[in-house]
Amino acid sequence: MKIEMIKENKKDYLDLLLLADEQESMIDKYLEKGIMFAIYDDSLKGICVVTKEDERTYELKNIAIYKEFYGQGYGKKLVEYIFEYFKNDCDTMYVGTGDSPLTIPFYLKCGFIESHRIKNFFIDNYDNPIYECKKQLIDMVYLKKNFKYRYIKG
Ligand SMILES: CC(C)(COP(=O)(O)OP(=O)(O)OC[C@H]1O[C@@H](n2cnc3c(N)ncnc32)[C@H](O)[C@@H]1OP(=O)(O)O)[C@@H](O)C(=O)NCCC(=O)NCCS
Repeated sequence: MKIEMIKENKKDYLDLLLLADEQESMIDKYLEKGIMFAIYDDSLKGICVVTKEDERTYELKNIAIYKEFYGQGYGKKLVEYIFEYFKNDCDTMYVGTGDSPLTIPFYLKCGFIESHRIKNFFIDNYDNPIYECKKQLIDMVYLKKNFKYRYIKG
């Protein structure tokens, strides 16, 4: 298994990007500046995209694994990899998601904790209603991973 940074032709991975963020115009807002990683285990299994939001603040903007490989640890491996990759440059990494049982338990398992919400984000920013598990996504739920206290000695 290997994880590689993807620097060019990020749109080649649009099929995966759309699994996590179904409106391409929203993906276009972060893809160019985003740092993309792909996980391979023989073949491509999934991708993620991280942006630098502030001097020591990063955000996981997109993570997607091909459906036939869900539940095999690839998503968590990608998250563990980016935590390790950014830990010296990053105090806090955020991830935003819908209030969905398909994603929040995954992020909690990966070590994120709940942070805050942006009310009506999916209504205000997406052209069409988005449903997951038959429930319309309304607010953006932000989770965070803090790094900065881990390295203080004493
Ligand atoms: C969310 C996603 C990336 C998870 O990837 P994955 O490879 O299936 O997840 P993993 O196998 O690494 O799971 C890691 C842990 O989270 C748990 N988990 C994953 N999805 C879960 C779910 N829907 N409900 C409960 N737990 C879940 C796993 O059981 C595992 O737990 P463990 O560490 O105790 O074994 C994947 O389902 C996906 O690509 N979804 C579509 C795109 C998407 O919605 N992206 C997020 C946008 S916000």
